Amino acid sequence: MVQLLGVVASAPAKIILFGEHFVVYVEPAIVMAIDKRAYASADIREDKLIYVKSVDLGMSGFFEGEDFHEECGGQAARRTLEPLKIAIQKILERTKTNAGISVKVRSTIPVAAGLGSSAAVAASVATAVGRLLDLELSKEEIFRISYEAERFVHGTPSGVDPTVSTYGGVLLYHKNKGFSQIEVKGEIPLVIGDTGVKRSTGDLVATVHKISKKHPSIIKPLLKIGGKITLSAVKALETGDLHELGELMNINHGLLCAVGVSDVSLERLVHAAREAGALGAKLTGAGGGGCIIALVEPNKCGQVVDAIERVGGKAFDVKLTNQGARIEN
Ligand code: PMV
Repeated sequence: MVQLLGVVASAPAKIILFGEHFVVYVEPAIVMAIDKRAYASADIREDKLIYVKSVDLGMSGFFEGEDFHEECGGQAARRTLEPLKIAIQKILERTKTNAGISVKVRSTIPVAAGLGSSAAVAASVATAVGRLLDLELSKEEIFRISYEAERFVHGTPSGVDPTVSTYGGVLLYHKNKGFSQIEVKGEIPLVIGDTGVKRSTGDLVATVHKISKKHPSIIKPLLKIGGKITLSAVKALETGDLHELGELMNINHGLLCAVGVSDVSLERLVHAAREAGALGAKLTGAGGGGCIIALVEPNKCGQVVDAIERVGGKAFDVKLTNQGARIEN
């Protein structure tokens, strides 16, 4: 493992428990921070350059004004690293600092899989650079900076990813009204199944947009039902009713299929998990590949993991974390 020096900060990955895509249409969503984190280290440079390196992606380079000088990873490195440059620049502007910054990122979060890796990385970078420059950034400011970086990645994100990476916990999120913490009763034992299929959130958001324009009288009520499922799930979480929660996950997955964001790779994993005894299973995030989540009784965790792996997925169990973006050293 590469050791990170300088000021080190981290932020968690997320899963969307309920309401992905529908949240873009101003329906509520439930999102949970999980115990997989992105880490960023920040240092001052003698020159005025911004250097960004992603250890896991093998990409690095220098930003000099609008120019990018690639060190590793070809020109694809620019598109991947630029959101982080945007986050760093925002803080440099705030502090009127005229120095250069080096940032290195390391992460245990699968990329482009719907686990909010880009937002977690942006929140960890903003937190590390803020502390490096003696700026006591509030959570709200870390969220704002991460959101700007996310806009570069996804165009018009709902903001759900940077919110949960910044604050941690389980949140009821509403695009226009903000968020509130949900007091969860007991554990939420979850297994993630990764299809390994990479996809673009922007393309899948466009898929839903297209079908909702084509069949507005059908899709609008469907989106409203999605909102009702989310609100019922809040009650199930507060009372610790896992059976109810599992059923609601299955119904939510059905709606996501209806708007066109599931695919064969996801269906294979969802059905394998259900057949192995999961209380419920659904895709999480944008769909079109990426990950599923399965709610399991703790004693059935192993068999659900095995079932997902037998049909070609990569499976691991995850836990809720209440720790949002934080300084590590
Ligand atoms: O990027 P993902 O896979 O975590 O999906 C984001 C969730 C969406 O609702 C599909 C888009 C959004 O901005 O909320």
